Amino acid sequence: MTEAGNDLVAVPERVRTGSPNPITSLDAWREAWIAAKDDPDAFWLREAKARLHWRREPSEGLRGGFHEIADGPIAFFADGELNVSESCLDQHLAPRGDKVAILWEADEPGEGRSLTYRALHQEVCRAAGALRSLGVQKGERVIIYMGMVPEAAIAMLACARLGAVHSVVFGGFSAEALRDRVRDCGAEVVITQDEGLRGGRTIPLKATCDEALLGEQGVRHVLCFQRTGAHVGWTAGRDVWWHEAMSEATPVEDAVVCAAEDPLFILYTSGSTGRPKGLCHTQAGYLTWTSWTHQTVFDLREDDVYACVADVGWITGHSYIVYGPLCNGATTLMFESTPSYPDAGRYWELCARHGVTIFYTAPTAIRALAAQGDAFVQAHDRSRLRVLGTVGEPINPEAWQWYFDVVGEGRCTIVDTWWQTETGGICITPIAPATPTRPGWATLPNPGIVPALMDEHGRPIVGPGEGRLCLSQPWPGMARTVWGDHERYVATYFATFPGYYFTGDGCRRDGAGYHLVTGRVDDVLNVAGHRIGTAEFEAVIVTVEAIAEAGVVGFPHPVKGQGVYAYVVLQPGAEPGPDLQALVNNVCRAQIGAHAKVDLLQIVPGLPKTRSGKVMRRILRKVAEGQPEALGDVSTLADPSVVEAIVAGAKSL
Ligand code: PRX
Repeated sequence: MTEAGNDLVAVPERVRTGSPNPITSLDAWREAWIAAKDDPDAFWLREAKARLHWRREPSEGLRGGFHEIADGPIAFFADGELNVSESCLDQHLAPRGDKVAILWEADEPGEGRSLTYRALHQEVCRAAGALRSLGVQKGERVIIYMGMVPEAAIAMLACARLGAVHSVVFGGFSAEALRDRVRDCGAEVVITQDEGLRGGRTIPLKATCDEALLGEQGVRHVLCFQRTGAHVGWTAGRDVWWHEAMSEATPVEDAVVCAAEDPLFILYTSGSTGRPKGLCHTQAGYLTWTSWTHQTVFDLREDDVYACVADVGWITGHSYIVYGPLCNGATTLMFESTPSYPDAGRYWELCARHGVTIFYTAPTAIRALAAQGDAFVQAHDRSRLRVLGTVGEPINPEAWQWYFDVVGEGRCTIVDTWWQTETGGICITPIAPATPTRPGWATLPNPGIVPALMDEHGRPIVGPGEGRLCLSQPWPGMARTVWGDHERYVATYFATFPGYYFTGDGCRRDGAGYHLVTGRVDDVLNVAGHRIGTAEFEAVIVTVEAIAEAGVVGFPHPVKGQGVYAYVVLQPGAEPGPDLQALVNNVCRAQIGAHAKVDLLQIVPGLPKTRSGKVMRRILRKVAEGQPEALGDVSTLADPSVVEAIVAGAKSL
């Protein structure tokens, strides 16, 4: 497409002056989608220049492609230079320095604080100074293991200001998981806090961090933010209080200049095999993508109060609490508590108190709250709400309808946003003012996203159909590589369907080009919106002494979307004891994290294996799903009799 073609799309004004959404109709979406597909260079170069604050403007858009991905990562805006924190902070000081940037709702209702763009800028410059005094340099990795306090966002942006690479580890992860991540990325500095607070309960973050770092010589410093004032262990010389380092710091006003493709952060996520992978996102492409999608999908306006109630430990928190909203000069809420504390009306009470206009959460939370009845919602004024988002898992039409009717009073647009840690930002979604919605459907691809559905022979399906969801051309926000292992990145995402990025999801497409993402088709579970590999569970479960083998699959769970079903084979002569499941869960919690819990456990005489020893997971899945009649052919099994025992002893909620 020519330059003229691109002119069909309304060119957005610089976002920092509060420009209107460029996509407010289906026609505008279509034109933008075609322009981004036909000439991604021109489309994204223009967006990147308009949205980001550059030290050196780029002259090129996309470099590389999926066919050459094994030779090296793709690049966007490769000759540009910038510092991401300047796009998120400095560029807003003149037009909106006194606007609230972060609105922090603490664990106790009504407690918290707000930081204007000016205040946030000062804190980030100071925190960057504190990190610099600890020796943090450009390119160095810093682990952030914190709860939902503004300091977590400040720490991320402070790393960005120095060109250091942050890796946020969700505060629910265990010491073991934290240690793995510290080692994998070679972090020498960890930022944590004394304790987290959630739903009136404390989370011993510093103690877990100390356990993780026991004997780890590589970590020079632990910077500890004081949240509760609890007594914590202290390693002299290594540990430093956040408030002391901040008060002594020389603010870093002059941000470190980075190349557009320097790494910005690493975020670990589970796959179908092996240990979690550190997906690596870079600077300018990621920020352009999160800024664009945040503005268009949610129809962001200057006076919006935007609340995404995810955790910064997951990609949703990175892209849609911190980077996208701040790049867009929005007021973004950070929520420390849970949807049910002190009661199931907490979300709506905070929406009323802060005048929230855009609200973004997960289907799990919606289902859990719907089960508590409408009164908790109706007790609070939701009249300012305009756009309601969901993310993280498929949303069933009933939950969608409840969100629409009860929470949104039939007045708000629901945006069911499909994306992944790897995609950096929203890929398939309604655009609030443009796309007619349909319960359960993520609808249309964003500009830049060209989906393809593959049939069982690896051929793209033309027209309506159901298949494996791939994306066929690069977009600015995609993860560039797996930290330290580009081969694994290529093997995981580009080997199944050469020339395509394979998402791991199944998807249905109708005649109108609408998409419904059905969920993972690989061995990855999505439990309450959290990704965990079945292989991770199995590796941990077999460390329980009485257990010889384990096969883990998902099953439909009314609230969590997917529950975890573990089939275990005991060691010869082992006595399971009455609380084997509790034992298993303790081990999962200790080795993975608080979110890794087995819901159903069945002791079986053996796993259904083929004669070559491969576990036929299809059988485990069908039984867990309560469909033993749909097992299909089991005659190729080495020992078909185990299937009878599995079916006979099947568990359900
Ligand atoms: O299976 C899809 C599901 O969540 C997976 C990505 O998980 P994660 O990387 O942890 O990122 C979650 C937040 C972006 C996907 O492969 N998923 C996410 N959003 C949706 C979804 N499934 C259906 N509909 C969605 N809207």
